[in-house]
Amino acid sequence: MESNLSEREKAVMYGIYKRLPVIVERAEGCRIYSTDGENYLDFLSGIAVNALGYANPKVLHAIEYQIRRYMHLSNYFYQEPQIALAEKLTELTTLSKVYFSNSGAESFEGALKLAAKWGSTRGKKNMYAFSGGFHGRTYGSLSMMDKPLYKEGMGPFLDNKFVLPFNDIDALRAAIDENTCAIALECVQGEGGISMASQEFVNELIALRHRFDFLIIADEIQGGIGRTGKFMSYMHYNNFTPDIVTLAKGIGGGLPLGAILFHERVTDVWVRGNHGTTFGGNAVSCAAGLVVLQEVEEWAQDNAATIGDYLQLRLIELAGSFPADIVEIRGRGLMAGIVLSYDAQEIVDALLQEKVICNVTAGSVVRLLPPLIIGVSEVDEFIHALTKVLRNRATDQQTQS
Ligand SMILES: Cc1ncc(COP(=O)(O)O)c(C=O)c1O
Repeated sequence: MESNLSEREKAVMYGIYKRLPVIVERAEGCRIYSTDGENYLDFLSGIAVNALGYANPKVLHAIEYQIRRYMHLSNYFYQEPQIALAEKLTELTTLSKVYFSNSGAESFEGALKLAAKWGSTRGKKNMYAFSGGFHGRTYGSLSMMDKPLYKEGMGPFLDNKFVLPFNDIDALRAAIDENTCAIALECVQGEGGISMASQEFVNELIALRHRFDFLIIADEIQGGIGRTGKFMSYMHYNNFTPDIVTLAKGIGGGLPLGAILFHERVTDVWVRGNHGTTFGGNAVSCAAGLVVLQEVEEWAQDNAATIGDYLQLRLIELAGSFPADIVEIRGRGLMAGIVLSYDAQEIVDALLQEKVICNVTAGSVVRLLPPLIIGVSEVDEFIHALTKVLRNRATDQQTQS
């Protein structure tokens, strides 16, 4: 049955996604095992979802326990897993309340609605985000993004939403005024090529907020939950407290879950009935999420910082050996980008042949998002594979010329 999955996929909207030629049997830790007996080193983590890798025994135990208690009750009920997870999120940040959703786009969409309502009593309507940012596929999110492929033919988009050039302080100063309601920032742009906001840019954002009184939304959907070596990527910046934080991906331990965190400035904006969802804060997802946060707090985010430094070091070393291929190494913790002088797909495909899984972002960037549990030996294994791929490419080119 499984061997003909690629043919049976005809019933699925298959053109939308690029599928890898790997039929997965099972996955454990940072390895994916295929039905043909191969095993792959996973440096993608289900696109930054599997923070603790696959089949983490503590996550499995929490899920099994919760499934037997109850799976879904609806948000009419108090639910222990939701409350415990919200308490943990507020303990690990300076934010004071949590709303649970199901996905990243839904979290970001909710953040825009919340900001709009906050602005409506202050005469503020304009919202800004930055080029290269990714916030999801819904109309609100897309209205705050600039990549044509995601938007072509699907407009009109929302009014009063603008995209400014990333890290451009002059453009920011020129645009922002007393009509500004909110600015959304992805501190480390995942889809945008692992580009990082500069401290100066964030300083300017904070100064402008002080002057014009608007909300800052930090989109931590990809960079949050320990991935960059701190609990949230915004925590790498001095004196930076966002007003709203959006989460998803890693928070659910592999189950669908999203969240919006509220600074106390905005906790009384929504009243009962203003917003809601059927599945958001599902008890099983929250039970898994609590284990993720405990592990991230106890050791996984420190591991991401330490192993991330080692990864950066090895990548920079490699860049020195392949200056014609590698233009730049970007990232923080276990969110890394290898900027190539050509289309990165070729290298990502060749890495798959070496049984390593990663992906392409922003055309020329190989994106690395391994589980936060990897060690030195997995980094060495990755570097070994990449070295081989780059050497083979150089040999091929010499042969051709
Ligand atoms: C930074 C960021 N925001 C929002 C999203 C949208 O999340 P989802 O795909 O869960 O809707 C993503 C997904 O890649 C993301 O990386």
